[in-house]
Amino acid sequence: METILVVGGDSLLGYALAKKLRTGSRRTISTSRRETRLQADGVYRLDLIESLPQWVTGIAASCAFLCAAVTRIRESESNPEYARLVNVTRTVELAEALMSRGTFVVFPSSTAVFAADSGDARESSPVAPETTYGRLKAEAEQELLHRARRCRAPGGTAIVRITKVVSCSKEPFRDWLPALSAGRAIEPYSDLAFSPVSLAYAVEGLLAIARLRRTGVYHLSGATALTYSQFAFMIAEALGVDRSLIVPVPRHAAGGQGPHPVRPALDMRETSPLLGVFPQPSHEVAEQLVREYRGR
Ligand SMILES: NC(=O)c1ccc[n+]([C@@H]2O[C@H](COP(=O)([O-])OP(=O)(O)OC[C@H]3O[C@@H](n4cnc5c(N)ncnc54)[C@H](OP(=O)(O)O)[C@@H]3O)[C@@H](O)[C@H]2O)c1
Repeated sequence: METILVVGGDSLLGYALAKKLRTGSRRTISTSRRETRLQADGVYRLDLIESLPQWVTGIAASCAFLCAAVTRIRESESNPEYARLVNVTRTVELAEALMSRGTFVVFPSSTAVFAADSGDARESSPVAPETTYGRLKAEAEQELLHRARRCRAPGGTAIVRITKVVSCSKEPFRDWLPALSAGRAIEPYSDLAFSPVSLAYAVEGLLAIARLRRTGVYHLSGATALTYSQFAFMIAEALGVDRSLIVPVPRHAAGGQGPHPVRPALDMRETSPLLGVFPQPSHEVAEQLVREYRGR
């Protein structure tokens, strides 16, 4: 039976991927660094600050999704050595060990490899990261492609840059949906742009890329760049609540430091013909978010 490995099974993407894969006929194993999760069947211990565990060399997985990472931009800025160890050094070591055994490695990457507001953002465009997080992602991408191509690792790798994945289990949507449903106002940013995709779209896209088994760079993106407040209006409409509950505020007025601006949308012109997957319209993302919330 085919085995699929999900590294970082407790992450937003890893959890959803493993859940989806377990409904099929493949054997799905995942990793965690949480003691309570390790008691479950098919969950292996992995903490990327430690040397790779022995079990990695005994795994014969056809495909692996690498979803464990330091994902907060601010955490990478405040502790760059730690972020580099996890997001580059150990990630590349793990990917190389897997690729050399014939595993196809799918690496979710980020729009942060591009400058926030200038230049092309095609799959083949040169990268221009502006944050430590973006620089580390770009370095890991380059190393993975280098090891897959030049070292002729039998497995190969797909670098998959994804725009913002929204889920009602993640901030700010974890707070917004219950608040709006209860008739309470929310204060989304009026001046921070993003290009959301739904969790279901990201999972389906990653699985389609894994099936293709072709080394290269892929993009999964929302169709438009819009502000968080514009997207909040779409959520209000999908929920059927009053638009007056959306009170847009500029980032500086929201108290504290808002998130660092990153490149909102990606160009998918090289990915779409290969996969038949196209940028996801924002209203569809809002509707899927509301469906996810109601189905919990
Ligand atoms: N979500 C998005 O919008 C998005 C967009 C583009 C790309 N991506 C990429 O997709 C991947 C998954 O993102 P996500 O949002 O699903 O992640 P997430 O929910 O933020 O979770 C990150 C996971 O990494 C694990 N982790 C952190 N440090 C670790 C270490 N030292 N050893 C082992 N595991 C460690 C965490 O473990 P604990 O649960 O134990 O803390 C957590 O499960 C990341 O590479 C991210 O850059 C995400």
